[in-house]
Amino acid sequence: MMAVKALDWDDDALLLLDQRQLPVRTAWIRCLTADDVAAAISQLVVRGAPAIGVAAAYGLALAARGNPELAGIERAAADLVAARPTAVNLAWAVRRLLTRVRDLPAEERAEAALAEARAVQAEDEDACLRMARNGAGLFGEDRVEILTHCNTGALATAGIGTALGVVREVFSRGRLARLWMCEARPVQQGARLTAWEAEREGLPATLICDTAAGVVLSQRPIAAVIVGADRIAADGSTANKVGTYQLAVLAARHGVPFYVVAPTSTVDLDLPDGSSIPIEERDADEVRRVRGLQVAPPTIEVFNPAFDVTPPDLVTAIITEGGVARAPLADGLRALCGKV
Ligand code: MRU
Repeated sequence: MMAVKALDWDDDALLLLDQRQLPVRTAWIRCLTADDVAAAISQLVVRGAPAIGVAAAYGLALAARGNPELAGIERAAADLVAARPTAVNLAWAVRRLLTRVRDLPAEERAEAALAEARAVQAEDEDACLRMARNGAGLFGEDRVEILTHCNTGALATAGIGTALGVVREVFSRGRLARLWMCEARPVQQGARLTAWEAEREGLPATLICDTAAGVVLSQRPIAAVIVGADRIAADGSTANKVGTYQLAVLAARHGVPFYVVAPTSTVDLDLPDGSSIPIEERDADEVRRVRGLQVAPPTIEVFNPAFDVTPPDLVTAIITEGGVARAPLADGLRALCGKV
């Protein structure tokens, strides 16, 4: 089956699959302005680092179409980047579009911005296929069980996904015995989105509460924990969905490889280590409530970081579209990003 699409360009609008409503309803929304796109990103209509990068690129194309003056485009760029702080793909894509249009005559900007946004989308689609092949190559001939977190599939990218793309490739080679999917509280991207994608594609898959990961890692022959990333610092420190760090600790405890799968657009060589990665904190009601249902006292104080940082010594390898970085991750990442 064709992987589902999270977003697409349709003549004069960016179409986004409204991921807040999955898996209950499949509904699309049309974004006609950069403001629409920024709001959709911050409200998680579209989410996942590569997907929000592509969406932001189209957002800037919409801004250039609405008003090709540079000041307006730059204002829209700042609003898009501010929509979510952790995934660097967003800032990366916006910077790329700005660089493309800045020195053009105003009347050429809209068309050039749209062409560049299309290129960002196509490149991400291609990067997903390459990551899938590079990642699947790390497994031998045996059938394997894999544990993953959050949603890193077609819904999170313009292609087949990052970590989930690797799982798809392992499956298509006939080697996936079982995918274990953590639910990913508070917003449940694992339960709502990865489980939905897995069912659509016929993957042998089992959903677990985040708190059951230790049981699974201690009782099942897990070949690897595979996750995506929102930002990877120069030393290999990896920001990803909250709960990733504890999975990395568990994987180390059980001698299981911990793989991070991400395109090079997720690598931020400007940040030396994980301490400077901005971590988004989201609304307390995401924790106090589940799908509108109150599960905690309505005024209880809440700490709700959307991401955490896994230090490089817990990461076995980082799989990108250009190849695989292993320890020392810093050297491998620089090579994969063309900085050596
Ligand atoms: O808050 P989200 O749903 O945008 O978080 C998504 C993740 O943490 C993913 O693991 C990451 O963006 C990689 S997606 C290919």
